[in-house]
Amino acid sequence: MALLPILCEPNPRLREISKPIETITPDILRLLDDMVETMANDAGLAAPQVNHQKRLFVMNITGELFKIINPKILWKSSVVLLGQEGCLSIPGESISVPRAEAITVQFLDPAGILQERSFSGLESVCFQHESDHLDGILAIDYLSPLKRSLYKRRSAKRALHNRK
Ligand code: NI
Repeated sequence: MALLPILCEPNPRLREISKPIETITPDILRLLDDMVETMANDAGLAAPQVNHQKRLFVMNITGELFKIINPKILWKSSVVLLGQEGCLSIPGESISVPRAEAITVQFLDPAGILQERSFSGLESVCFQHESDHLDGILAIDYLSPLKRSLYKRRSAKRALHNRK
């Protein structure tokens, strides 16, 4: 296993639309394992964050580790949660994003078996956050124009600071 470098916003690679997995090869399984190691104690990590534009992600909220391939959200509850989300690609930020409280989803597991599951609470939020990454959508995209411009100012300052 290996730790993978994580791309950070505003890297344009984070904005690409990821491609579906057609065959689950040993390379794909290795990527998933490396992503689990790279995620460490965080809640989730999507392939585009480690510069693989593929529709897969890992998540672990409750101690149950999920390796999710080709996710599809089949149903979303109308009840909305407004939580604070962190993202390894947006370090130091806590972003409030409205998400469906419960979802029903479909995905392939690493054995290539089609799974259908329902998630609620933080697992639902994380699944939606990671699925967004596969479509090039980041948590900051949900900010109001004012909050977004404040975020941009903060991240420009941080970039300047990091260059020193
Ligand atoms: Ni993220």
